Amino acid sequence: MCGIVGYIGTDLAFPFVLKGLKRLEYRGYDSSGMAFLNKNQIDITKSVGKISQLEDLMLSKTHTSKIGIGHTRWATHGEPSDRNAHPFYSNSKKLAIIHNGIIENYAIIKKELQNKGFQFESDTDTEVLINFIENIQQENQVSLEKSLRIALQKIRGAYCILIISVDHPDTIFAARKGSPLVIGIGNNTHYIASDASPIVEFTKEVIYVNDYQIAIIKSDELILKNLGNETITPQITKLDLEITSIDKGIYDDFMLKEIEEQPFTVFDCLRGRLDFKNCNIKLSGVEEFEQQFKQTQKITIIACGTSWHAGIYGKYIIETFCRIPVEVDYASEYRYRNPIIKKGDILIPISQSGETADTLTAIEAAKKDGALIFGIINVAGSSIARICHAGIYTHSGVEIGVASTKAYTGQLTALVLFTLKLALIKESISKQQILEVIDHLQILPTQIQKIIDQKDQLKSMAEKIYAAPNMLYLGRGFNFPTALEGALKMKEVTYIHAEGYPAAEMKHGPIALVNENLPVVFIAPKDNYLEKLYSNIQEINARKGKIIIIANEQDTNALQYTNEVFYIPNSHEILNPILSIIPLQLLSYFVGKLKHLDVDKPRNLAKSVTVE
Ligand code: G6P
Repeated sequence: MCGIVGYIGTDLAFPFVLKGLKRLEYRGYDSSGMAFLNKNQIDITKSVGKISQLEDLMLSKTHTSKIGIGHTRWATHGEPSDRNAHPFYSNSKKLAIIHNGIIENYAIIKKELQNKGFQFESDTDTEVLINFIENIQQENQVSLEKSLRIALQKIRGAYCILIISVDHPDTIFAARKGSPLVIGIGNNTHYIASDASPIVEFTKEVIYVNDYQIAIIKSDELILKNLGNETITPQITKLDLEITSIDKGIYDDFMLKEIEEQPFTVFDCLRGRLDFKNCNIKLSGVEEFEQQFKQTQKITIIACGTSWHAGIYGKYIIETFCRIPVEVDYASEYRYRNPIIKKGDILIPISQSGETADTLTAIEAAKKDGALIFGIINVAGSSIARICHAGIYTHSGVEIGVASTKAYTGQLTALVLFTLKLALIKESISKQQILEVIDHLQILPTQIQKIIDQKDQLKSMAEKIYAAPNMLYLGRGFNFPTALEGALKMKEVTYIHAEGYPAAEMKHGPIALVNENLPVVFIAPKDNYLEKLYSNIQEINARKGKIIIIANEQDTNALQYTNEVFYIPNSHEILNPILSIIPLQLLSYFVGKLKHLDVDKPRNLAKSVTVE
């Protein structure tokens, strides 16, 4: 959600800023802009639309500056337009700012500034912030650094900001609270970005700036301070990220690349964690807090979007295997509804990015109340990963397609490992039952590959449904979350209105939508619910819905109702959802392509939602 980049060093700033924005485009793509310091003035260029439109404008210009900032926007305050795109000048044009986040009390500050004669060209909170800083500087005759500190103490909300100034031609000022900020250390050069993807090509040494910190960045010097003006020693982290993982390679789209990576990413999540011989699951994060896990009476899972669907799956399997009550909450609801959390309770945040603002804030509240925070996170070193007591990394690699695919199967896999480990600690199921799951887990990557190898069949299915305005996804039990996630994928990538429902519950509403034009996808692998699910299939069949069934191999029953059956390999019933979501991801992908849509960057969506 909004991406920021900055460069200060020995080379021209423009190539890094442009490339960096392209790498971060998944964070927001309604408009973009850049600012460079050139001989006593700041030059700003911005454009509504994708980065390629800004690139066209920039390529006709001459570039000489070695200090610059760039921004890709996901609109919060003000419609997407050239006017509301970042960067913004201050009124004197001596300062320019880019910002990721929301300044909640901007309206009142704006009014005060207007009364003092400040003019605003945009509807944004960001333009208010830069003028607020300028006003403090002018009225108090203080340095830019001090006025920045004063302003940040007075604003409410979230921010990651970069500021350049005509009076400080050798410095970028940066600050963060709630929105991510990474600084790469090069040779007399600093690379700045919202995440490490623009930086990894140039250096593997980075500093993750923490909340309430200000960075004063020159080409050969980096000073970190807190808002109280105390200097902080920067902690250098080595990036564990390869440039190849953030390139499309042979693929046209990240979405397909990431779907097809799943045999490997699921394998990476399992790697070194399964011990069949000793019937054990190796998860050091759980082992460290074993007593607390043994005694806990309640688990709460919080997440947003696709990660929330993984959370529902987590509830089903943890309650089945470990016999502990599990609540699943949207992080955005949890943080405001005054939830009951007691010392010793376990809170499991699930997040791909590790930066989702609602999840982050919800964790902070539960942590204060004494909960053990055990994260299931993809991005190592992310803000959420850093505030958890312990957790499991999903090791899904960088996910760039805005609609989550491989991160979801990584989350499900991590939840299975966690559940088995907890069941071992609680002795809630037999070792034999655990070994059965481990046995099936080991062949999961090969089974996922088998599904991907049959993707042409899903392409043909897509041709039959892509013109539908609505769709319904139905599943039961462990595959109820698959129905939710399948529908979400279709909605996000193709703009078809799709609903996911527990199959029996559809009688209480969605059945009214059913006619011969409505594609209805049933997720129907062999499990305890299958017989019941077939009754629901009959109910849709009787009303002439266009039935698609995801079934296990050898389930010939499915063919009685439709020719549109996609077979997935047989597995353990709790692992079926890791297989059954793959054809649904591919179906959405192919429908999106048939509709000539940008499947990697669906309209209005952002990958990393760093505002509430
Ligand atoms: C956005 C993304 C989704 C993601 C959700 C939660 O909406 O587009 O793909 O599931 O945020 O993000 P997280 O990074 O916390 O899993």
